[in-house]
Amino acid sequence: MKNKILSCLLFGTFVSVSIIAHAQTKAKNKQAPDAKIDAIVKKLTLEEKIAMLHANGIFSTAGVERLGIPGLMTDDGPLGVREDVKEGWGSANLTTDSATFFPNGSALAATWNPELAYRFGHDMGEEARARKKYIILAPAFNIARTPLCGRTYEYYSEDPFLNSRLAVQAVKGIQSQNIAACVKHYAANNQEIERGRVNVEVDERTLREIYLPAFKASITEGNAWTIMSAYNKIRGVYCSENDYLLNKVLKGEWKFKGIVISDWGGTHSTVKAANNGLDLEMGSGPKYDNYFFAKKLLDSVKAGKVSQKVIDEKVHRILWVMYHTSMSTNPPAGKMNTPAHSKTVYDVAAESVVLLKNDKNLLPLKTGSIKSIAVIGDNATHTFHLGGFGAGVKAKYEVTPLAGLQNRLGKSIDIKFAQGYSGVYRQHGKSINEPTKPADSAMVAAAVSLAKTTDMAILFIGGNRDYESEGSDRKDLSLPFGEQVLADAVTAANPNTIVVVVGGAPYDISKIKQNNHTIVWSWYNGSENGNALADVLTGKINPSGKLPFTFPAELKDSPAHALGNYPGENLQVNYKEGILVGYRWFDTKKIEPLYCFGYGLSYTDYNYSGLQTAKKSYKTGETILTTLKVKNAGKYAGKETVQLYVSKEGSSVERPEKELKAFKKVMIAAGQTAAVTLSIPVQDLAYYDVKTSKWVVEPGKYKLAAGTSSRGIKQSTTITVN
Ligand code: BGC
Repeated sequence: MKNKILSCLLFGTFVSVSIIAHAQTKAKNKQAPDAKIDAIVKKLTLEEKIAMLHANGIFSTAGVERLGIPGLMTDDGPLGVREDVKEGWGSANLTTDSATFFPNGSALAATWNPELAYRFGHDMGEEARARKKYIILAPAFNIARTPLCGRTYEYYSEDPFLNSRLAVQAVKGIQSQNIAACVKHYAANNQEIERGRVNVEVDERTLREIYLPAFKASITEGNAWTIMSAYNKIRGVYCSENDYLLNKVLKGEWKFKGIVISDWGGTHSTVKAANNGLDLEMGSGPKYDNYFFAKKLLDSVKAGKVSQKVIDEKVHRILWVMYHTSMSTNPPAGKMNTPAHSKTVYDVAAESVVLLKNDKNLLPLKTGSIKSIAVIGDNATHTFHLGGFGAGVKAKYEVTPLAGLQNRLGKSIDIKFAQGYSGVYRQHGKSINEPTKPADSAMVAAAVSLAKTTDMAILFIGGNRDYESEGSDRKDLSLPFGEQVLADAVTAANPNTIVVVVGGAPYDISKIKQNNHTIVWSWYNGSENGNALADVLTGKINPSGKLPFTFPAELKDSPAHALGNYPGENLQVNYKEGILVGYRWFDTKKIEPLYCFGYGLSYTDYNYSGLQTAKKSYKTGETILTTLKVKNAGKYAGKETVQLYVSKEGSSVERPEKELKAFKKVMIAAGQTAAVTLSIPVQDLAYYDVKTSKWVVEPGKYKLAAGTSSRGIKQSTTITVN
């Protein structure tokens, strides 16, 4: 009934169901009825409005009972729709909130597949709708400025273009279910150390070219209905009260019509935040009446420090989002844990796995001749749906790598397991195990004995979701828990050792690269993790994942570390590397990484030829059309991601050596050749000119380079912009 009253207010009058359905289809394609929303705003008392602008529960806000306006219901987050929690964050212990565990953000990014990002969003949106969570606090895509950031696993990439293409599709997918995406964390939340106090000094060009593009694209192309302000300050001002970020850029330039939601506990003022663009204060209670946007806001309005107009605009935004979500007419039916959701998770996981090294062609496994496999390492049986500090999912199920191998090979191959090391890192939120603790010699000895008895060993090492976590950064890149000692011992015991490293961010695997012939990179890969990984190892799936960030040979090679600008001093961090983030730095400074951005092998070889552009010279406003041929020269069908980088020759401003401007993932049958078309709007060649505050396309020559990774360039050509 409640919903009906608001529907009535929004849509005019009670009408028959079929007319509503018809009107709704039309309304969906139109702007929300601003005039009708204004009429509702007029009916609300100031107290009722203020109650809508702050949390009244960990994930909820108050509605207005007498008008049938429901409260907002939000929920995390990037790994799937999180379980219900009580005040204090403990589990609500329901039996109805088990959900699909989706692969982590950097896994999704490693697929380089925007279609999968859409399905990912769509299915998560469907689960959010089934659980009546109308705002899902995802996707999260802050730039991987340092590989140490505790949330690198949640985020996508070091590259703003890859970030943008995936974020837009994830948003569209979620919102196709009339569930609001909440893109986060706006902006420059690139480290967890002191995230609630640190001030980021970043120059305007860098902000515009590196840290804002995916937010901009999510709003202007993806049409995201909500956004979360970050915990940190930018240029001395908290993001939740930052007039420049919120009023000028987001609501002004990008014409954002939705809600700016604070990060949980990330609000620091009443008048400043209210006037500078924050719409909704969230946090983890329990004294919700003491919130900056509760009684203090009411008093500030009464004292004339915040105008009624400002309050009305915020309420308008909230009702506008409700119009699209909880109050949308004839919304799609929500669904939980469906086979289609499992298939999406499987597809993302399967396309995310990165083959780093296969020197002896041990992969795909020759299953016909292998009689026994020693599966070694805690990560073969560790689950990743929960862990650490921050959002997880109460997974309906999660297939571990060991279970996946048993499912696929258990009938024909003798699979034995040894744990090798303990990956226990935290319990009840506290660290209980130093990652630098030496290897457990008894566990290593047991693993070695087992490895000596089998045809081959598959060793699972890497991080886990306790070790990589929100709220803290890793201290260094080294493999934790004595894993290197274990790897050395197992490799010495069995010459046919395959190393699978599981993680959401770069690790120092230089010694593994040096000593081991077969290396696979995998992620916190969701409910279907083990099945997808086993299918990659056995060749049912040809690996097609590509690294979404650079693996430095040493931490000090990474830009923020090279310049000593991490984690900052006296709560100040200067982004002195400017636009040279990730491969932009490594390539421009000619520093050899361990593995470069975009890297990933396949069981087949791809030959590139014939890169051409439709024309040789272009004007602003036009689109550069490139074509090339990619031949699958091997025996396995596979998917290749063709990457197109652009360099400006003789630029008048600093430019990175090259920048990703287009990519496409194509399926190519063995022996076949695909004609691949990639287009780049000339406008995308622009740099941000701080003098005029405009994007400027410089005339002159540009080099276009197509390759299989940022350093695996196979073909290049030049064009001129007039
Ligand atoms: C995180 C957000 C998350 C929120 C609610 C915060 O600590 O930064 O990403 O959505 O908590 O769980």
